[in-house]
Amino acid sequence: MPTVGTRLRATTQRLAEAGVPSPYHDAIVLIAHTLGLEPSYIRTAAARDDEWPPGADLDLLEARVTRRVDREPLQHITGKAYFRSLELQVGPGVFIPRPETEVVAGVAIAAAREALEMRGSVRVTDLCAGSGAIGISVATEVPEAQVSMVEASEEALVYLRLNARAQPADVRTRLRSVYGDARNCLRQFDSCADVVVTNPPYVPIDAVPRDPEVALHDPPQALYGLGNDGLEVPRAILDEAQRLLRVGGVVIMEHGDEQGPALRAYAESSEWWDDVRTLTDLNGRDRMLVATRVGV
Ligand SMILES: C[S@@+](CC[C@H](N)C(=O)[O-])C[C@H]1O[C@@H](n2cnc3c(N)ncnc32)[C@H](O)[C@@H]1O
Repeated sequence: MPTVGTRLRATTQRLAEAGVPSPYHDAIVLIAHTLGLEPSYIRTAAARDDEWPPGADLDLLEARVTRRVDREPLQHITGKAYFRSLELQVGPGVFIPRPETEVVAGVAIAAAREALEMRGSVRVTDLCAGSGAIGISVATEVPEAQVSMVEASEEALVYLRLNARAQPADVRTRLRSVYGDARNCLRQFDSCADVVVTNPPYVPIDAVPRDPEVALHDPPQALYGLGNDGLEVPRAILDEAQRLLRVGGVVIMEHGDEQGPALRAYAESSEWWDDVRTLTDLNGRDRMLVATRVGV
């Protein structure tokens, strides 16, 4: 009779042989997802070498492991991605939120809390919202924040709306999902934002990501920022952020680890931005531009 431990070891080995970056973790998640149990339970059951549960759907597990061996993202197979305190629905057509963006969301949350404290209300706009990872985190973690989320892909918008609707009523009612181009969306707003946060596409066209999970499964519109340096879309979004923000408002824009100086130079060349800074992620890499909108 197979045990949870033998099944976990065999699955881990198959994933490792396929070059999956974290085979043990992914094997646990796939087994837990198939058995409808928590990953922590699988770890414990494997350590105790419990018997494999009778009636568990082995064909389904096999099908899911094969998809992962073919380097389909784990999150597409489970349909879930975790971001800060959120469990988000994801699938083909929407960008899978990344851990480094949690730090970007954290900076937006801090800026929103500061604005709320100073002004008694706060409006936040998440441009290029994807699954809603950043915008929904802000609404969840800043109790009174009114959050608008702008997304240009119809496929991504389906997930954005699903995730917004899945929130508790008190959060859901403060979220607005807008279908539009973040480079030109001003007329869809009737008042100024205190904080604009964005994780735009910024990968240069010749820097095709190596991991098949990214290269084959993340939507190209979510990755490539156009122009030789991948910054054509981010620069246009920065210009729109300037129009969306009130004087004294803050923009926070995620970028690639080599794009800090170029984006800083662009912001500094404009009379509309002051206090232009680059902040790093948890690995110490340049990760986001922060700037304050000034009046001229
Ligand atoms: C890197 S993903 C970020 C998604 C999400 N904010 C996150 O951090 O997980 C970029 C997103 O921007 C969207 N997008 C690309 N160009 C856009 C544009 N011009 N206007 C609005 N959204 C755009 C893509 O469809 C994608 O969902």
